[in-house]
Amino acid sequence: MIHSPAPYPMRSSGATALKGDVSVPGDKSISHRALMLSSQVIGTTQINGLLEGEDVLNTAKALTALGVQLTRLSKQCWEVHGVGIGGLRESDHVLDLGNSGTSTRLLMGLVSPYPFTTFFTGDDSLRTRPMARVITPLTMMGARIVARGGNKLPLAVTGSADMLPIRYSLPVASAQVKSAVLLAALNTPATTTITEPQPTRDHTENMLRYFGFKLHSEKAEDGSVSVAIMGQQKIRPADHEIYVPGDPSSAAFLVVAALICRNSSIYIRNVCVNPLRAGLFKTLKEMGASIELRNERSIAGEDVADLVVSSSRLKAITVPAERAPSMIDEYPILAVAAAFAEGETVMHGLSELRVKESDRLSAIIESLEACGVTARAEGDTLYVTGCAEQPKGGVTIHTRYDHRIAMAFMVMGMATAQPVTVDDATAIQTSFPDFANLMNSIGADMVAVGATHVAATTHAPITIAIDGPAASGKGTLARRLAEYFDLEYLDTGSLYRAVGMKVVYAGKDPQDKSAALEAAKNIDAEDLANPRLRQERIGQAASVVSAFPEVREALLEFQRQFAASGKGAVLDGRDIGTVVCPDADFKFFVTATLYARAKRRHRELQGQGIEVVFESVLEDLRERDARDEKRSVAPLKPADDAIIIDSSAIDANNVFEKVSQIVLKKYPALAA
Ligand code: DC
Repeated sequence: MIHSPAPYPMRSSGATALKGDVSVPGDKSISHRALMLSSQVIGTTQINGLLEGEDVLNTAKALTALGVQLTRLSKQCWEVHGVGIGGLRESDHVLDLGNSGTSTRLLMGLVSPYPFTTFFTGDDSLRTRPMARVITPLTMMGARIVARGGNKLPLAVTGSADMLPIRYSLPVASAQVKSAVLLAALNTPATTTITEPQPTRDHTENMLRYFGFKLHSEKAEDGSVSVAIMGQQKIRPADHEIYVPGDPSSAAFLVVAALICRNSSIYIRNVCVNPLRAGLFKTLKEMGASIELRNERSIAGEDVADLVVSSSRLKAITVPAERAPSMIDEYPILAVAAAFAEGETVMHGLSELRVKESDRLSAIIESLEACGVTARAEGDTLYVTGCAEQPKGGVTIHTRYDHRIAMAFMVMGMATAQPVTVDDATAIQTSFPDFANLMNSIGADMVAVGATHVAATTHAPITIAIDGPAASGKGTLARRLAEYFDLEYLDTGSLYRAVGMKVVYAGKDPQDKSAALEAAKNIDAEDLANPRLRQERIGQAASVVSAFPEVREALLEFQRQFAASGKGAVLDGRDIGTVVCPDADFKFFVTATLYARAKRRHRELQGQGIEVVFESVLEDLRERDARDEKRSVAPLKPADDAIIIDSSAIDANNVFEKVSQIVLKKYPALAA
């Protein structure tokens, strides 16, 4: 997926005391691994809490191209039908992994033991990142890899059915390289052993064990760790369920925000606190941060806890190089915390930061200096001098399409004297799609600046449910929203109308339940395009057949699948927010007085050259309202959490304006 060419700036202004009880999105590393590893076990795995950021969606897309069936059951809940070891098939297309280094490197390992060729590419940033570190061990095992100059993407992996096990010592501690080799080793005979100079995140190992694979990890006296895995293990087919804990790298932004904004106290639920990921929390505590772990527990091999964080006076410390692997993604936000600490914070061992989504070390220094903070690097050590006074801010930060730089400096703006603007917030989609909204919900003030038009951008799929009585204007609204936000659209009334039409045109009575059920089971795309659907008598018949629970049940799965598939959807009807999509991102209930709706419908009919008296239109609507509201199943009523829009006195444009603003406020990233 190539990232949106339309950047959009965001501004973060001084925040009030932060308060709230929140959860952060699922862990990115664990989400990638959950998708990939569940594909390697025969059986169905339900993944709950999956991070639906662009990077993980790119892994999902690539796996689909490699022949794995994935279904999005609902928001953040996916089902993977595992094909087992050796079960992937050659992709017809180039795999475009967008901005995701993890997807690329791990998938290169996964496809290496297959005697076919897989092509990889990515966005401008990913195509500059080094791949030699994975190419070397995979080539030793028997894969042939051809890459662009400097071992960069695009590249092709021609795998081998005769892979050789290796003993490989990683020259640089890298969980991605370790995982790539482990994934290749899964389908390689005999035992492959990988030694890492320092321990790196072990989510791949934890999840392999959870799925029943045997592997052996050993720590040596010099601090290095070896992992050995026997390939082609016979894993019994089984169904599994995985809960992805909250991403500590995402929680990091909330934690530091609460520390640096005065009088704050927040509760963050379900955070992964795997010791190999918790380096930032440890470091901040050494700096004097008040971070308390509650409800510590273990879920599918991962340590999980709730965090209670309160405003704290921070003091500078020296962070040792050995800690870098456990917090490599956290230096941008740690550097921001250091800007508010007393004294000079010294961070050693940061050479890896030069080859991240951007040259992060330079990006951090440049951005801090712009905000009025003294920062410099010497070799791979970063020095940040905390401001005795509040840092000034009042600048625009160049994010270089780096999500962590963008979020770190949005947090900075919460506590600087002047607001901080980031020039492009689109990259935040890769790991924390709801970032600004979540921050605003606890007291931040983050807004998209100058958002004027909608980009055909990639975003996590969102669902908008629009319910309301007949002629309330919900259909017009739903269609316009779908077009504006580039979402799929389903008029669910047309499903019930199609059932009514089939029954009526077969000469049957709409009250005939079995005829209605038969019709519901046999609806096809042609029925939904039939102009007869719009006839008033078909609307009446639809209202009758829709009262049968069996008919509703027969149409439910289709509607849910529609909502869950692809790029996100707008559905309109009567029970979308209450029954079909109870966890929709937005629920609107559009209504108007009976009189206003009858007027509208009457004008519409006259416009179509149909002469009817106003009173009969009014009567028809009254009858349909009564039937839709009184039926025993899914009666027409707003969901408890629906936003009610009364359109009696405002026109369609006003309704659209109002609703689209609500959507944009929550998901500024939909605009660009
Ligand atoms: O919105 P409409 O007029 O096209 O809907 C036709 C009928 O279908 C309506 O009287 C009630 C029924 N319906 C329903 O029961 N549930 C839905 N989600 C949509 C429509």
